[in-house]
Amino acid sequence: MNEHWIKGKVAIVTGGASGIGQAIAFEAAAHGGLVVIVDINETEGNNTVDKIVEKGGSARFCNTDVTSRSSVKKMTDQAVQLGPIKYLANSAGLQTYGTVETTSEEAWDATIDVNLKSIFLVSQQVLPEIRNNGGGGIVNISSLQGLRCQKNIMAYATSKGGVIALSRSMGLDYAAEGISVNCICPGSVDTPMLRYGAGQHGNEDEIIKEWGSHHPIGRIGSSIEIAKTAMFLWSPDSNFMVGQPVVVDGGLGSIIL
Ligand SMILES: NC(=O)c1ccc[n+]([C@@H]2O[C@H](COP(=O)([O-])OP(=O)(O)OC[C@H]3O[C@@H](n4cnc5c(N)ncnc54)[C@H](O)[C@@H]3O)[C@@H](O)[C@H]2O)c1
Repeated sequence: MNEHWIKGKVAIVTGGASGIGQAIAFEAAAHGGLVVIVDINETEGNNTVDKIVEKGGSARFCNTDVTSRSSVKKMTDQAVQLGPIKYLANSAGLQTYGTVETTSEEAWDATIDVNLKSIFLVSQQVLPEIRNNGGGGIVNISSLQGLRCQKNIMAYATSKGGVIALSRSMGLDYAAEGISVNCICPGSVDTPMLRYGAGQHGNEDEIIKEWGSHHPIGRIGSSIEIAKTAMFLWSPDSNFMVGQPVVVDGGLGSIIL
């Protein structure tokens, strides 16, 4: 892979203070990208910047609520000052559990707003900048739950199915302008979000080991494995991929029982 395509270019990563987004931020910075970490978690956002800078990379944190148009606009105005914006990863996310009957309207709204509407709001602000800079790439983080799902995860699965449709739609709309849009559908990945979920079911490590055993590969994924896929989808090597859901799941979605 040509390692220089991101050097000196601005890469915006929502949810960049933790888990998959943080791994994407680390990978982007390691390849010379100027990373903008967009999150509501100020402490972890600043810690992530410190870790990147310690390794000689370039990053800044923008305390931004991706569900707020004005907050997203402020972030974009700041990011423009850093250099040419060419890459965006939408990884901010919220996991909620419940059926149609047990999910409150507030939980439904929060799940759809953070996981789906935010991608619309952020992309709407950032796309014109990517276009002005001659094109680039957008990667949205969906989930295997957008294609197949567990029970009792209705709002989350709905939001992630929406991310797949949104990414397909965006892919088609911008392909001719040299702006690639695809999404990733991860299986279980070891992040604070997953560990929190595991903790609700019993001993965190034991539950994670058990979940790993359900994946044909015998383990859950690491956030770096998702970040490497995101780098490929941003890179010119994947230019012929348009609006695709890329499943990275250790085989979980392919088994019948
Ligand atoms: N971990 C998994 O197993 C897994 C599997 C499939 C998909 N995903 C998806 O990957 C993405 C990242 O998940 P993760 O596991 O790294 O979770 P995480 O909880 O570690 O990170 C999510 C980040 O999003 C941020 N965030 C939440 N609401 C926000 C808001 N309104 N504005 C700005 N930032 C906000 C959080 O502060 C956090 O830093 C999510 O979209 C998630 O649904 C995760």
